[in-house]
Amino acid sequence: MTETISDLIGNRFAQKTDTGKDRPAEGTHAQQLRHRSRRRYKDTPVPQEVLDILYACALSAPAKSDLQQVSIIQFDDADLREKVTDLIPSMPWIKQAPVFLLFCGDGRRVRRVCEMRGTDFAHEPLDAFMNAAADAAIVMMNFIVAAEAEGLGCCPISAVREVTDEIAELAGLPEGVFPFAGLCVGHPADDPAISVRLPISLTVHRNKYDDSRLATEIDSYDTRRAQTNPYSKQREPDRFGSKQNYGWSDDKARQTANRERADFSTYIRRNGFDI
Ligand SMILES: Cc1cc2nc3c(=O)[nH]c(=O)nc-3n(C[C@H](O)[C@H](O)[C@H](O)COP(=O)(O)O)c2cc1C
Repeated sequence: MTETISDLIGNRFAQKTDTGKDRPAEGTHAQQLRHRSRRRYKDTPVPQEVLDILYACALSAPAKSDLQQVSIIQFDDADLREKVTDLIPSMPWIKQAPVFLLFCGDGRRVRRVCEMRGTDFAHEPLDAFMNAAADAAIVMMNFIVAAEAEGLGCCPISAVREVTDEIAELAGLPEGVFPFAGLCVGHPADDPAISVRLPISLTVHRNKYDDSRLATEIDSYDTRRAQTNPYSKQREPDRFGSKQNYGWSDDKARQTANRERADFSTYIRRNGFDI
């Protein structure tokens, strides 16, 4: 039987659905529904022309107020690449990826344009930061969609924000430019399971926000997800104990029980955003 969009939605949410049952599993929708972050790559290089096409596609994304507040650093220099990857040894896929990029929010360019045209930049700092961060996120996602259409695989790396000062120095980021996420890019060398998402019933609200069914929805999500995405390790068993049915909600509750990237807000405040 021909695979349909409804089959792909079923795989993504681990829930059977009739939605999309009359549409063949092809085109952009199918590609998006099949998305997976890839953490293993073949040695095959990615030609610069392909990257240039992907940059053009990525930068075709919408941009807040047309301010276009994004910069992308492509690490070509082997020594520099090594220094960057050495900063995050816990994620060996960064070293292995043929291409490693850094997507940055860029609040510097528009400030320079203000200077050039004789005005003062007066946007509210948190909103200005949010706008640049959103632009960087949207452009990175557009890059991923374009890369996947090319048969490439990607893995975003927010761990760059655990070493913000070091990576900003290596990448020569001036004031006003901040790392949003790194991105590994290459030809995929494995075929990981689809990461099952929270149900649409929990994330799409009709007319008014409603999370009254959160507890039951999360329990059944944990159960569904465990079939395809079981956890091989439990976080901090010494602190939280070991559980028999350790699921997504256990993992995320334990993960967020630690303060991550406390230095990032200091970096942002020091570098052009008085939030
Ligand atoms: C902004 C952002 C930052 C991420 N940072 C990391 C990271 O530092 N390391 C990593 O291995 N994956 C990272 N990921 C990938 C997520 O873990 C992945 O998207 C999530 O587990 C869902 O899996 P999927 O992309 O295969 O559907 C990041 C994803 C996003 C969107």
